[in-house]
Amino acid sequence: MKQDITRGRFITLEGGEGAGKSTALDYLCARLEQAGIRVLRTREPGGTAVGEKVRTLLLDPDHSGMHADTELLLMFAARAQHLHEVILPALEHGEWVICDRFTDATYAYQGGGRGIDVRRIGLLEDWVQQGLQPDTTLLFDLPVAQGLERAGQRGALDRFEQEQQDFFTRVRDAYLARAAQYPERFRIVDAGRELEAVQQQLIVIIDGWLEEARCSPG
Ligand SMILES: Nc1ncnc2c1ncn2[C@@H]1O[C@H](COP(=O)(O)OP(=O)(O)OP(=O)(O)O)[C@@H](O)[C@H]1O
Ligand SMILES: [Mg+2]
Repeated sequence: MKQDITRGRFITLEGGEGAGKSTALDYLCARLEQAGIRVLRTREPGGTAVGEKVRTLLLDPDHSGMHADTELLLMFAARAQHLHEVILPALEHGEWVICDRFTDATYAYQGGGRGIDVRRIGLLEDWVQQGLQPDTTLLFDLPVAQGLERAGQRGALDRFEQEQQDFFTRVRDAYLARAAQYPERFRIVDAGRELEAVQQQLIVIIDGWLEEARCSPG
């Protein structure tokens, strides 16, 4: 999976429950499209017919007995399909791909949350992604209780949302550790603020991308 300079930009949105990822996705896509960029919006787990079925398996609260390894493998099974069917072809056609959650979520939820050794996650990452990484990852960070309160207003809880507060604290800590480990790739968005303040920060980030796109060949 070589990274061609004419390919589109691969952007991932990360963060805990109710952090505002999906809200930001709408906003980012609208602003980029206004700027004349072809944008493909997608999500994980999911993004393909196969992947969306895997998502249903993963989120179903009836599957409370799912082993952490099964969960991890299903995440990467859906991701393999997503990469080959959707993400890589779009990037090769010069489209920008904005994905609601990607592999950092696996490190946060299956690594931090479930306690799976990150080396095992890394093995699957290398196998499935063959070196492909997002160009930029926006981490929507906010206190766990605040995110759960926002997400809770949506009604029925999925299998992950039924976890306890300490699970989400580990998820948040793992996300922040990823951001500290890969500072060139991550931008941390202070997602606990009101929507307008979050959007102001997003405008600065988007303007930076557009500036880079203007300066790069292809
Ligand atoms: N900055 C904000 N201030 C207040 N409310 C917000 C803000 N951003 C999003 N919301 C609201 O919080 C709720 C959760 O937002 P959203 O669905 O975008 O989060 P999410 O990160 O996609 O959550 P999930 O991980 O559960 O998919 C929505 O009702 C949304 O309108
Ligand atoms: Mg969402």
